[in-house]
Amino acid sequence: MSEKKPFYLTTPIFYPNAKLHLGHAYTTTISDTLVRYRRLMGQETYFLTGSDENTQKMVDAARKVGEDPIAFLDDIVSTFKGLYAELGISYDQFIRTTDQQAHWPGAQLLWKKLVDAGDIYKKEYEGLYCVGHEAFVTEKDLVDGKCPDHATAPEKIKEENYFFKLSRYADTLKEKIASGALKIIPETRRNEILSFISSGLEDVSFSRPRKTDWPPGLGIPVPGDDSQVMYVWCDALSNYVTALGYGRDDALYQKFWPGIHVLGKDILRFHAAIWPAMLLSAKLPLPAMLLVHGFVTSGGKKMSKTLGNVIDPEELLAEYGVDALRYYLTRHINPFEDGDITREHFKEIYNANLANGLGNLVARIMKLAEDHLEGGTKPESADFSKNYTDAFERFEINHAIDEAFRHVQLLDQKITATEPFKLVKSDPEAGKKLIFDLTRELLGIGQMLEPFMPETSKKIKEAVITDKKPTTLFPRKE
Ligand code: MSP
Repeated sequence: MSEKKPFYLTTPIFYPNAKLHLGHAYTTTISDTLVRYRRLMGQETYFLTGSDENTQKMVDAARKVGEDPIAFLDDIVSTFKGLYAELGISYDQFIRTTDQQAHWPGAQLLWKKLVDAGDIYKKEYEGLYCVGHEAFVTEKDLVDGKCPDHATAPEKIKEENYFFKLSRYADTLKEKIASGALKIIPETRRNEILSFISSGLEDVSFSRPRKTDWPPGLGIPVPGDDSQVMYVWCDALSNYVTALGYGRDDALYQKFWPGIHVLGKDILRFHAAIWPAMLLSAKLPLPAMLLVHGFVTSGGKKMSKTLGNVIDPEELLAEYGVDALRYYLTRHINPFEDGDITREHFKEIYNANLANGLGNLVARIMKLAEDHLEGGTKPESADFSKNYTDAFERFEINHAIDEAFRHVQLLDQKITATEPFKLVKSDPEAGKKLIFDLTRELLGIGQMLEPFMPETSKKIKEAVITDKKPTTLFPRKE
């Protein structure tokens, strides 16, 4: 990828039926880290996130607490934004699918393109609908008549819907994915989706009759048929282009599309089959890449609101601070596999690698600098190691941050081997030169940490520039 090519990255849009949990914070944090890295490399970036609001799930959640759905949505969305501010998520835009100015015109234009391509038709549909999934399920998805993910029985629904001719695109999709025109990372997910598509694709329901209990302002009307609202696909997936102004002022779209979608493995099929098929039908460019991450588990089980084993990111943020949480999520969870988090492990890692490892190193070097350097010569910024940039190019963010921490270890070893506190007494000139070199290497670590731990990175850089020891970065937790 050339360095100057604009870089557009999206997160999934989250359901605002409850506050975000650590699983969602994970998706968003790794996305933020990838974008921050590109900015650091001088690339122009655009980072999109948002909320998926036109859903029954949402209406049910609002009713349950006796609130007006729109007011309820506004409240939850403000908690999303509050969490993002605390997590240091540097998004450029937060798109809401109830936004009638930003989102609806583009979603409706896209729908019309699919109609123009002859890919939308009406038919009576009967099926089992799982509200938790916001999707139709089949008998074979159920265990004892219930959805195993949500532990609820699906509703039987018979209604007239518009359908999208997904089946028509199976071969083209397969070819695009196999040839890498649509890249899917990691390879295992690419193979999984290829075999899924090879077994054939069925047309999908694309609209629902407008429900009488939905307030106006919820649900995008199907162009030319107000009795129907768009169902998730054209309603939600389209956010990735409407946010860039598709269907209104499309300067951002022209500049940034196609982009990279970060998503969890549970929503891969939508992103790898339905969304690209819609784009093919509308004759728009396919996404550049799908980056598919695993699940954050807690005690071995997927963290989910339904299972009730969620860890509230606010809890860890309050106790350990933003960079400790970002550190854990980016380094101790492999982005392409499931990764576990427990409060006990978090604390252990925090004390070993942040309070002792990094925190201790910064304190030692900066104490030496404060005592022995006059602040005359400022260290120049260091280069990024190839291990680090290569890991980022492969989207292996855990390996990129490993590289930064490998340098923490190397620097620790160097101090032990060279004993600068002794040298500066026996040979002040050589001692100062050594301490200066140490601050220079520490600056390199500070720079490498920017995408992962922006506040810590800033504190390290400031400390080196001023030759002042910062206040304790990571106080030990007992
Ligand atoms: N609204 C849809 C996405 C539409 S995108 C056009 C949706 N929302 S969600 O709020 O349920 O989840 C959004 C994302 O959070 C998904 O990528 C999902 O994989 C991720 N996660 C939810 N729980 C998770 C974990 N426990 N761990 C990691 N990611 C998880 O689906």
